[in-house]
Amino acid sequence: MEEQNAIGILDSGVGGLTVVKEVFRQLPREKIIYFGDTARCPYGPRPAEEVKKFTLEIVDFLLTQNVKMIVIACNTATAAALNEVKKKVKIPVVGVIRPGSLAAIKHTRTGEIGVIGTEGTIQSGAYEKTLKQINPNLNITSYACPTLVPLVESGIEDETMIRQVVKEALQPILNQKMDSLILGCTHYPLISQYIQEVVGEQVKLLSSAEETAREVSTILHYQNLLNQTENHPKHLFYTTGDVDHFKQIAEKWLGRTIEVTHIDLSKVK
Ligand code: DGL
Repeated sequence: MEEQNAIGILDSGVGGLTVVKEVFRQLPREKIIYFGDTARCPYGPRPAEEVKKFTLEIVDFLLTQNVKMIVIACNTATAAALNEVKKKVKIPVVGVIRPGSLAAIKHTRTGEIGVIGTEGTIQSGAYEKTLKQINPNLNITSYACPTLVPLVESGIEDETMIRQVVKEALQPILNQKMDSLILGCTHYPLISQYIQEVVGEQVKLLSSAEETAREVSTILHYQNLLNQTENHPKHLFYTTGDVDHFKQIAEKWLGRTIEVTHIDLSKVK
């Protein structure tokens, strides 16, 4: 039965787990197959063509696992490859840029929205395009924060160091007017408390994770693909990088123990 198949969720590393956590919360009956391309992370500084190639490779792998839907839980990969993936596969595909944009549109009162993300996401202009398509009157400030992904992937727990890196990364946007700030990178929700400290309580932080899970839920419902039978799905987590390191970050973030398998895509073909 197709509805019992898994939802394939991909990211360049651990960041997409923010989406997994929301899917667990909103759709506890769904089975997840997660793919974190940790060995090639970060995608942010890479050319869009390369990110597209990596994303298509992962999609090919997920298709071999008979997933019923694909979630590109990576902003950089969504910006570079969402349209291409949609053209390529017959199952539903969801990215994170539209859900994140919708969350900000829903929240803003002043129409002043900030977006932070990787170089690839910010350079692509994908957030501005999506936001302006819906409301051309919005005033958008976008800014790339390349130091934040390595900070999260390193798993550093020293709060003084985290605060310092976050403060330096966000300095240039602190004088900009905004009532909403889109965390346009899947890794940022993992350090959102520090980002909030730096930008102040008056700015609402918006992550795409919650809206993305809602969109997944809506699409599965409309396509009659919601899993109504499975109560304890066995999720699978793949990483191209170090299993222990991935497991440590993932279990801390998800608050549960998981099984992680190392995968080398060049050997799968
Ligand atoms: N997952 C990426 C994103 O959301 C961030 C990490 C990376 O640069 O690969 O843009």
